[in-house]
Amino acid sequence: MILIKSRDEIKKMAKASEIVAEAIVTIKQAISPGISTKELEQIAEEVIRSRGGVPAFKGYRGYPASICTSLNQEVVHGIPSASVILKEGDIISVDLGVIYKGYIGDAAVTIPVGKISKAAERLIRVTEQALYEGIAEAKVNRRVGDISYAIQKFVEAHGYSVVRAFVGHGVGRSLHEEPQVPNFGTPGKGPKLKEGMTLAIEPMVNEGSHKVVILKDGWTAKTADDSLSAHFEHTVLITKSGPEILTKWN
Ligand code: MF3
Ligand code: CO
Repeated sequence: MILIKSRDEIKKMAKASEIVAEAIVTIKQAISPGISTKELEQIAEEVIRSRGGVPAFKGYRGYPASICTSLNQEVVHGIPSASVILKEGDIISVDLGVIYKGYIGDAAVTIPVGKISKAAERLIRVTEQALYEGIAEAKVNRRVGDISYAIQKFVEAHGYSVVRAFVGHGVGRSLHEEPQVPNFGTPGKGPKLKEGMTLAIEPMVNEGSHKVVILKDGWTAKTADDSLSAHFEHTVLITKSGPEILTKWN
């Protein structure tokens, strides 16, 4: 069942999402060569807890950390570590969820570390724009497949592939609610979108093949062909007047 959120639930989700955005901005500012992904997690925890939030990922299905930090060829679910030190030219995807008074916001962003290659810049730009192409379809009476198709079409037109092993999702009372929101699909197919639905739309885009492998830690997903990968995500509310991005950071 796809939950429709009440005005009061939306307020709590908006607050959770505001904390997500603030934590992401703080992490963006902290990212530079020499910092460890563990330090980034500590920065996120500090922001989240000081605002009355709780990290949504820690303990979720046994996930061991408060944020996901996925470097370069890593797609999603990289685990922060004191021994992973950022260096110039890396790209890092940071994924972060917050619970506030029982309600959840979820977002992700891929950030350059210092100066990066033109190829990496383009991958990041296309992935972020793919998210906005998907969000533009998040309207009353459209269907989930319209979001999926808009993302896939845009990404593939730029010569990249969308990851299929992971998908976007409903979000709010739980981190993962119905419906699934794949980044590939068919226009006009899937559940119809209604006012008050809240979706986490999250394209994961690979430079090469869409295929991923899971590393020995049981979490980190990496491209099977060792190509670069990027990830952007927002929590979006469907309103009568169009999509409203709850996790907006600028
Ligand atoms: N944004 C990701 C998702 O929606 C983060 C989940 S990571 C987990 O799937 F560790 F919490 F599983
Ligand atoms: Co998500």
